[in-house]
Amino acid sequence: MSKSFVVAVCGATGAVGQEMLKVLEQRDFPYSKLIPLASSRSAGKKVMCKGEEHTVVELTENSFDGVDLALFSAGGSTSEKFAPIAAKAGCVVVDNSSAWRMNDECPLVVPEVNPGDLDWHKGIIANPNCSTIQLMVALKPIHDEARIKRVVVSTYQAVSGSGQKAIEELENQVQRLMSGKPVVSDVYPHQIAFNCLPHIDVFMDNGYTKEEMKMVQETIKIMGDPTIKVTATCVRVPVFYSHSESVNIETEEKLTADDVRSLLAKSPGIIVEDFPEKKAYPMPIDAAGEDATYVGRIREDETIDNGINMWVVSDNIRKGAALNTVQIAETLIERDLVRVP
Ligand code: A2P
Repeated sequence: MSKSFVVAVCGATGAVGQEMLKVLEQRDFPYSKLIPLASSRSAGKKVMCKGEEHTVVELTENSFDGVDLALFSAGGSTSEKFAPIAAKAGCVVVDNSSAWRMNDECPLVVPEVNPGDLDWHKGIIANPNCSTIQLMVALKPIHDEARIKRVVVSTYQAVSGSGQKAIEELENQVQRLMSGKPVVSDVYPHQIAFNCLPHIDVFMDNGYTKEEMKMVQETIKIMGDPTIKVTATCVRVPVFYSHSESVNIETEEKLTADDVRSLLAKSPGIIVEDFPEKKAYPMPIDAAGEDATYVGRIREDETIDNGINMWVVSDNIRKGAALNTVQIAETLIERDLVRVP
């Protein structure tokens, strides 16, 4: 990666934006200039990257002139409005919101799974939902080996997925409850501290939440296989960082638990941690701040012929958002695709 690029981070003051700056620094991303963008509320604030201070600039329609790559994480409505403006200015957008994920003109990419889809981008590339990304990393090797027919997934999702305000809401509620004070809920409809909410994003007409339907639809688009059936239950839990998932998989061909362990152990982006005798299994507190998707508790489902149960954990802000976005940008550079056709 010898060439350097002008890179904008849109939403640079948010939970994901801050992590993007960290990932750009840790991976020594080849930028010649970095432009942190946010709303007028944060204009003038300072952010750090690669040991240098950068001043946050207000996002406007002119923000993308001369910018090669823009990494967006400033909410769906901001992406909806500004991603096309950026692409029109010749800037390739990698968008972390749900605004463009199901648009037929926009590839939806997990670099370990479907990097080839970047070849047909038209200026806007979508980063999948955090819960979908870690599921795809774990499912792709199994699908390639034994063809997945059906997946039943239940998620245990961290509050950081709802942004900085949600992190503060959990902190405040825990402190208040421990001192016997009543709590206030602004981000969530109910108290999140010491509780579980089977409700992420809005409810749809079919009784599922939008988050659950994202997992169903995004899986099909990323895997490029409309025959995979997915059913999901998404739950918000009082964990700060890392989503966990209980995953039940039915395959066409038989795989033993050992087959799955050795298959996943040699697959990109995965660390298998499956030693029940040592009480070793993936946990959100261990995955937080890490890049890998951790898989453990791998067992054969004894109620069907070809079934596997497993437990998948990954940092939702890193692989689930910032890291995957930067990996997409790196893959665009590797494939010489940093240009709007
Ligand atoms: P700001 O700091 O100015 O509010 P989080 O997901 O953690 O809540 O962060 C959201 C990010 O998106 C923040 O950086 C926030 O900037 C930015 N943002 C929100 N709304 C807008 C907007 N209308 N224009 C530009 N940036 C926005």
